[in-house]
Amino acid sequence: MEKRIAVLPGDGIGKEVIQGAIEILQAIGERYNHQFSFTYGEIGGSAVDSAGVPLPDETISLCKESDAILLGAVGGPKWETLPVHLRPEQGLLKIRKELNLFANLRPTAYFASLADSSPLRKEVIEGVDMLMVRELTGGIYFGKPSERREVEGKEVVVDTLYYERYEIERVIKQAFELAKTRSKRVTSVDKANVLESSRMWREVAIEISKDYPDVTLEHMLVDNAAMQLVRNPKQFDVVVTENMFGDILSDEASVLTGSLGMLPSASISENGPYLFEPIHGSAPDIAGKNIANPLATILSAAMMLRVSFGLQEEADAIEKAVNAVLDAGYRTGDLMSEGKTKVSTTEMVQQVKAALA
Ligand code: IPM
Ligand code: MG
Repeated sequence: MEKRIAVLPGDGIGKEVIQGAIEILQAIGERYNHQFSFTYGEIGGSAVDSAGVPLPDETISLCKESDAILLGAVGGPKWETLPVHLRPEQGLLKIRKELNLFANLRPTAYFASLADSSPLRKEVIEGVDMLMVRELTGGIYFGKPSERREVEGKEVVVDTLYYERYEIERVIKQAFELAKTRSKRVTSVDKANVLESSRMWREVAIEISKDYPDVTLEHMLVDNAAMQLVRNPKQFDVVVTENMFGDILSDEASVLTGSLGMLPSASISENGPYLFEPIHGSAPDIAGKNIANPLATILSAAMMLRVSFGLQEEADAIEKAVNAVLDAGYRTGDLMSEGKTKVSTTEMVQQVKAALA
């Protein structure tokens, strides 16, 4: 198989973890006889430095011409004081919008060997297997106006939570489709007791559920969902929610199974190409030290093989290798616990590569 992959390392640890994922993809290519080509593009703060904007046009065209996109992370203190349109995060939001990546899939599954790294007790997390489906191109992240104003001498600020009905429909439909392939339960998370947008969200969820008689729909208020995630995470299968609720809940879900450094994600659109990225950020505090956990990005590469290229066996091979390395006791700093072997980013990548062979 021949595939063109756009690689956007971004900032901070993005560059280090991306390098690891590419090495693993190259190893897979050799072993299974696929030709993966990697073309690099700039995004985030490094794009601001080199091109003056967080998402240069060349990066957008590169992505559109590719079969899939692998992204590291964006952001860092160096760019925090720039005007809003030059912030690294704007690059990420814009690429999501440009490619119409309306659904962000963030799976969280229990890794037996990481039980000790979880802040929760083993009984609570054993068997957790959930998929968060986060709306990614609408809601309060994109609604206009979003600005400061002076009204009658008072300083005021406004952000807008805006959704068109079809935007809610398509992401909820996606969640139901995914639930059909899993345990057939959808939890739709909203704040329908307060927000009008959530009342429409709930209405749409009920409507769509009628087309999926074999999938159970449950509604949950977002504050309760935040609590249930730590109280009894096993109750969840597919969770679907709007952009900002999903941002918050997916960080929470990620540490259930050990570390933010473990969680991959896929952002999908109607026609592709799809984008794959770890859910963690650029972690400027540990950047350049060769200590970041590359596994979320490596697992994102596995998701790319499975979701974009239909390469099930190859994706399984990567996931198995990651599990084997964890079982063997290798840990980056974020996962470290007593009696384990601490490794650097590059050592972790080498271990995964060795386990693939
Ligand atoms: C994420 C990140 C981004 C988001 C930031 C960096 C803009 O937190 O992908 O979850 O809020 O979507
Ligand atoms: Mg986030």
